[in-house]
Amino acid sequence: MPIDNSEQIAEWNGALGQRWVAMQRELDRIVVPFGDAALKAAAPQPGEQVIDIGCGCGDTSIEIARIVGAAGAVLGIDVSQPMLEVARSRGALANCAHLAFRFGDASEAGLPENIDLLFSRFGVMFFSEPTQAFGHLRKSLRRGGRCAFVCWRTPRDNAWAMTPLSAARTAMGVTPPPADPNAPGPFAFADADRVRALLSGAGFGGIDVQRFDAAVSLGATPRSAAESAVQIGPVSRFVREVGLEHLPVILDAVERALAALAAPDGHVSMNGSAWIVSATNPA
Ligand SMILES: C[S@@+](CC[C@H](N)C(=O)[O-])C[C@H]1O[C@@H](n2cnc3c(N)ncnc32)[C@H](O)[C@@H]1O
Repeated sequence: MPIDNSEQIAEWNGALGQRWVAMQRELDRIVVPFGDAALKAAAPQPGEQVIDIGCGCGDTSIEIARIVGAAGAVLGIDVSQPMLEVARSRGALANCAHLAFRFGDASEAGLPENIDLLFSRFGVMFFSEPTQAFGHLRKSLRRGGRCAFVCWRTPRDNAWAMTPLSAARTAMGVTPPPADPNAPGPFAFADADRVRALLSGAGFGGIDVQRFDAAVSLGATPRSAAESAVQIGPVSRFVREVGLEHLPVILDAVERALAALAAPDGHVSMNGSAWIVSATNPA
């Protein structure tokens, strides 16, 4: 099938990318436990050559660059110009000469060869043709090279995403439309069997998929948590679908739902559930 990631590329260069840039510190803080679990599985070593797929604002690329050191190298690749701009300035501040960022669609861009490790924190679920994309990425690996990434499990087990969305839908009297669970997007890799099949179809071996759950901290108060929820994740998409004029009603409804779950000090934290996936390029 021809690769067409144009819809996702437009999203990540539009309002979605801008919101990620604006909320970069907050989002990095939220996903750190998941990224750390993926890094543990990836186990980058000093001197290794690494590609960070869908590197966004560069958080994990910088962390890996520190681990591989000056004898190694890290290339962050992403389709979002605004996010890459942030990544480049953060990379310059981190003073890592062996760290570079490149604009490109990871599913077809020219990539360096003999890479030791392909890594991604939530950056691989947006390909229109994931088997082709991973087949292309695998060719950049040396024989025996590794791939490790973290992706979200099913929405049902990700209360941080579904609780605000259910509240927003109820407030608007909208029942969830039938949706393709495999469509490119944050939950496209929720089905572990599908992930195994597409990696093996792409030529990977040694495929391992482990569940990893951690608390997702949405905000210090129900209001700030609701404000985050309507900007990022499924509610932000829902707001665009129903129209921005409904935002105040949705925000209030999400705040009420989150207030019911808040800790005594007001903090809102909910479960997040992900797969830590690792695989190897056969030797
Ligand atoms: C959920 S964000 C994660 C960003 C970053 N890895 C992090 O953990 O902060 C997903 C990223 O994947 C990027 N992305 C989506 N499709 C892509 C593609 N085909 N090639 C490269 N990057 C892509 C987006 O631009 C975005 O930066």
